[in-house]
Order: sequence, then C-alpha cells, then structure tokens
Amino acid sequence: MDKFVIQGRRRLSGKIAIGGAKNAALPIMAATLLSSRSHLLLNIPTLGDTTTIGRLLQRLGATVQYTKEGLSICVTSIEHCEAPYDLVKTMRASVLVLGPLLARCGEAHLSLPGGCTIGSRPINLHLEALKKMGAEISINHGVVHAKARRLHGADIHFDIPTVTGTENIMMAATGARGTTLLTNAACEPEVVDLATFLTTLGFRIEGAGTPQIRIEGIGHEPDRDTAYVIIPDRIEAGTYMAAAMITRGDIYLSTCHPSHLVSICGALREAGATITEENDGIRVQGGKIHPVRVTTRPHPGFPTDMQAQLMAVLALSSGMSVVTETVFDGRLNHIAELARMGADITHHGQDTTIRGVPRLSGAPVMASDLRGGAALVLAGLAAEDLTHVSRVYHIDRGYEKMEAKLSGVGASIERISGAV
Ligand code: EPZ
Repeated sequence: MDKFVIQGRRRLSGKIAIGGAKNAALPIMAATLLSSRSHLLLNIPTLGDTTTIGRLLQRLGATVQYTKEGLSICVTSIEHCEAPYDLVKTMRASVLVLGPLLARCGEAHLSLPGGCTIGSRPINLHLEALKKMGAEISINHGVVHAKARRLHGADIHFDIPTVTGTENIMMAATGARGTTLLTNAACEPEVVDLATFLTTLGFRIEGAGTPQIRIEGIGHEPDRDTAYVIIPDRIEAGTYMAAAMITRGDIYLSTCHPSHLVSICGALREAGATITEENDGIRVQGGKIHPVRVTTRPHPGFPTDMQAQLMAVLALSSGMSVVTETVFDGRLNHIAELARMGADITHHGQDTTIRGVPRLSGAPVMASDLRGGAALVLAGLAAEDLTHVSRVYHIDRGYEKMEAKLSGVGASIERISGAV
C-alpha cells in the first residue's frame, strides 16, 4: 500500500487545474447502460472509483475504452445483470447500476453494499422506490435480486434527499411506462449533470437541481450516439481551497464552476480566506484563520464531503469552532488522527469542537476514507517536520494525481509505493 511523506510548513502558491467530478462521472457512466449506442465521455477523471465502475460495466457486457478524446462506452447488449460483491465491496456507488439494469433488461442482482467507514449507508430508499415502480425485490445471502417485466411511473417521496437514490430512480424512470415524480429529491450539481446527460440521450427530465423532478418514460431506447463533457469536481476544488488556507498560500483554481462552490466559499470566507471569482475559476488567498460554526447539509448547504478538510483548517484557527455533521453517522475517523498531530479536537454526538492551536506537528497517520485522508494531507502541509499518511489508496479513489497537483504549487509531498 502506498503512503505520502509530507514535509510541512511550505506556503503554497500557483495554479491547480481542477478535474472532472467523481460523483458526476459515476452515475453518468452507469447511465450508458440505458442505451445500445456509443457514448464518448469527456473530462472523466482517472480515479480508483471510475476504474472500478468501468470494470463493473465491462462485467455487464459494456465495451469501455480510454481513447485520446475521452472515455468511450458502448453497451450493445447486456450479457450479465449481476454486480458482484468483489467490486461492490470496494465501491458503494456500484448501486448506481441497479436502476439502469432494471430499465434496460428488467433484472438486476446486486451484492448489498456493506457499511463503510463513514456510516451504515443503507439503500432502503432506493429499494422502496423501485418497488413502487413495480419491481419485485428480494434479498438473499447479501444479494439484492430485482425483477420488473416493465417498470411503471410512480410518485416517490424520499424521506431523506439521497444523492445516489435520486440518481438511481431518475435512471430507472427513463425506462418506465408513464411519468415519475420525485419529491424531496437531492439537488446536488452532480444530479443535475446526470439529468443533462440523460436529456442528451433523448430522455425527458424536468426539475433537476430542485427537490421536485419529473421524468417521462419515452417507451423506447435512446436512438443517438452522444459526446458529453462532465462538470468539474467541486469537492476537489474545495479541498485545494483548504490547502491555500492552511498554508496561508495563494492558489488559483482553474476549470471550476464558482456557482457550485457557494456554500464552500461562504464557510471559508468566514474562516478568513480571501476568495475572488474569475471567469473560469477562483483565486484563494489564506491568512489568519478564524473560528466558525458550520453544519453539513444536503446541497445547497455546506457539503459533508468537505467536513474533514474544514476541520483540518480550523485546527489552526484563533479560537473555538464547532462543526456539526448531520448527513453521515460515522464520518469522524479523521478526528483521532488529527489529534495525533496536535489538534485540540473532540466530538460528542454530531458536534465536533475544534480549539485552534498555534501549530501542528508531523506524525505517522492513517487514512480510512477518501475525504478524511485528504484532511490528513492538508494537516501535513501545515505541520512541523514530516507527516506520513498511510493507506493512500483511499485518497486515490477520489483525487487524481494529488501529489503532483500539490507539488506543482510548492508542496513537499512524495508517494512511497508499496510502503507497509
Ligand atoms: C453520495 O453518497 C456521494 N457519493 C457521497 O460522496 C456524499 O458524501 C453523499 O452523497 C452525500 O452528499 C456519490 O455520489 C457516489 P446519500 P450517497 O444517499 O448517495 C442515508 C465522496 O466522498 N440513506 O445522499 O451514498 C445515508 O445513510 C462520497 O465522494 C438512507 O438512509 O449518500 C446518509 O445518512 C462519500 N437510505 C444520507 O441518507 C438510503 O437508501 C445521505 O446519503 C440512502 C441513503
């Protein structure tokens, strides 16, 4: 397993190009199952998770080719309807093939994604919605078996605005007879990007980005090849914004959409960042870090995927901050690791209290999920002496070439391959 070795206390300065959004790439790649035509996807990041879903699509019968233009996917026919445990256990987002498989071939067998280090992560809302659309669902030996001669439209209200739940049902509904109305749907930019991709395939979807989404089944498969550019990754952008803050640096993030970063910019400005929006990106200048109170919320609130990174920044603030995590029940593994680096950080229930300290000290720490791992890298960038971050494979799932991007703005970060 690889690790990062970081020599801290270097001020970062320069430009970082933001890549394509992991959480848009995954549902859009899954959506190619809905069509037998060819799809060229551009700006797809090369990550652990996109590689995994590419392998899963190949198992199902897709041709997946990385070309110099982009990622070409064609699913002429579905050969298998099973998402096996060996792939699902490494990536929960495998659940995103459930809706498209039911829509395309009326059958799907998916190993139940287990919990993960950030929480229990059930998929009950996905399954209840599919049942309302006419699917027969059973679970045996950890495998979800779903069958539907033909899905039909339904009115579906999500008790929780689930992101992949919204995406799964949106994709399933494109193959259903009649209209599906989703209420309390997730509003994330990645949901909108999927809806836009589905519209380019010829499906009829209205309201994506709002809590109410209407999907019309069109009664036939898409009849066109497509080329589609996915949106930039707002969480990657937020992570490097935090890097500018924690090192009191000055970083320009190109190819990102400021409109996707409103809540992140709001919290980081309150914490002392100077953020200026330019035509295709934003400039972030760090300075004195102020304490803040932030609560994670579904979009457009402050994203849970930036919670750990914000905590790392606040460890060096001038006072006491409180970060409240309301989305996941276990997204706290980075707290003990940050404490090993000298952070004064404690949690009680959903609230984490961070009392700023004058400095952090380098230490050997371990990543246990991709955003928590990113937070440890951020802390290492500011800490005195060396920080060793192990189990970097977690970070590689969601960040493309992190060490190269950080080195490019002056960080001392080295990947040691095969480290124990
Ligand atoms: C998506 O996960 C993202 N993953 C996550 O990003 C992100 O943290 C999360 O949304 C929240 O924004 C992808 O898009 C691939 P949810 P998802 O369903 O869809 C509960 C990252 O770091 N829930 O919106 O799995 C659930 O337990 C990853 O890139 C149910 O109870 O999250 C959680 O408490 C991590 N039953 C809440 O809803 C269900 O059937 C929100 O989860 C589904 C969800």
